[in-house]
Amino acid sequence: MSDSNLMEKIVSLCKRRGFLFPGSEIYGGLAGTYDYGPMGVLLKENVERIWRELFRDGRDDIYGVDAAILMNPKVWEASGHTATFADPLVVCAECKRRFRADQLDDPSVCPECSGALSEPKPFNMMFATKAGVAEDESATVYLRPETAGGIFVNYKNVMDSVHPKLPFGIAQIGKAFRNEIAPRDFIFRLRELSQMEVEYFVAPAAWEKAFEEWRETMHAYARALALPDEKLHELEVPQDDLAHYSKRTIDFEFDYPFGRKELWGLAYRTDFDLSAHMERSSASFEYLDEETKEKFVPHVIEPSLGVDRTVLAVLASAYREDELGGETRTYLTLAPKVAPVKAMVSPLLKNKPELVEKAREVRAVLRAALPGAVIAWDDNGNIGKRYRRQDEIGTPFCVTVDFDTLGEKPEFANTVTLRDRDTGAQERLSVPDVAGRIRAALA
Ligand code: GAP
Repeated sequence: MSDSNLMEKIVSLCKRRGFLFPGSEIYGGLAGTYDYGPMGVLLKENVERIWRELFRDGRDDIYGVDAAILMNPKVWEASGHTATFADPLVVCAECKRRFRADQLDDPSVCPECSGALSEPKPFNMMFATKAGVAEDESATVYLRPETAGGIFVNYKNVMDSVHPKLPFGIAQIGKAFRNEIAPRDFIFRLRELSQMEVEYFVAPAAWEKAFEEWRETMHAYARALALPDEKLHELEVPQDDLAHYSKRTIDFEFDYPFGRKELWGLAYRTDFDLSAHMERSSASFEYLDEETKEKFVPHVIEPSLGVDRTVLAVLASAYREDELGGETRTYLTLAPKVAPVKAMVSPLLKNKPELVEKAREVRAVLRAALPGAVIAWDDNGNIGKRYRRQDEIGTPFCVTVDFDTLGEKPEFANTVTLRDRDTGAQERLSVPDVAGRIRAALA
């Protein structure tokens, strides 16, 4: 399968099975926006939940915030986004199309019509809107271009409310908005995206140790998502290419079907943000080390992860086709923790009330035994079709209730068949054993 073919197949599966839909589709869409559907919501929540476990809740030194998307514009002046959050824009003199100069092989020739392109001009990617009824400049506010801004402005609030000692971090998952010149590659480059970010505050001399620890946490996250190790690469960003706030950045790149591209970033932001906010606001962010009696502005290590790029990496890694039972099938080898649905329960025949009743009972037992796990129900079409549907959304287990469950063969009474997604192999197990098997897969 060629890589472009693979991408088309992933996009098509996402639409067909309710993972992702083009934004505002009935009106022809809106470039750079996608909507998560029923399966996509569950997948995204799992990606975020595993991040929360590793980056926030499984630790004692990280606190959460959920800050407003609209922020005082002074935040973005201080962070440098108003002045420098720009990509180089070129416009074709002939067809008037707009491009990002740094994404063109030849930034002087239009890739669509070969017309002459303008000189690159910086194009600020922040989305502006107006707050309140005034129409003048003073009412201009921006949709946040990174969730980090909402963390820095709450540094003092967190200090004053939970009194942490350094090192500690503040974590946030939320939407960010970037008016990308050329949104592309499905959910890779969006105008409305979600980020999972930690700002980790350290004493200046401790930054390197913290950087290495977060680097390892990011690899642990990749392993938890079952991203193949050989597709993940670290790129030490050259000094000339560093963002304005960074002294060191590692890009975690991933081999997407359309090439090796940035998945996540790990940056050493120094004291750039806290110092900049201190200069422009009335807040003091100086920290007094009680042992050394030293006063300083904390430095920051920032693991920054895009939710949508992570979802895409997970889907692209999991997509498979094979021959099973004489048919070509498509399936997703999602890690059980990541899969939207953990198991599907089904009566062999839907027009046999005794099978349906027993299957409902089995489903209730599994739901009670596995709180929080989505246990689906499907009695539509024949059993083979049901398995195929679950394969396509990556459900690791299918549980079928048949006449043997009801005691037709007494030795199998109260057992069900458990089918494995990847091999298609089936075995007979008691319901508690099925619950145990699923629980073990989710551990
Ligand atoms: N706070 C630092 C920051 O925002 P960034 O490298 O600009 O750094 C962090 O973005 C992550 O957000 C990226 O590694 C990527 O996962 C995601 N991201 C950035 N721009 C994106 C876009 N237009 N569409 C989807 N995800 C994006």
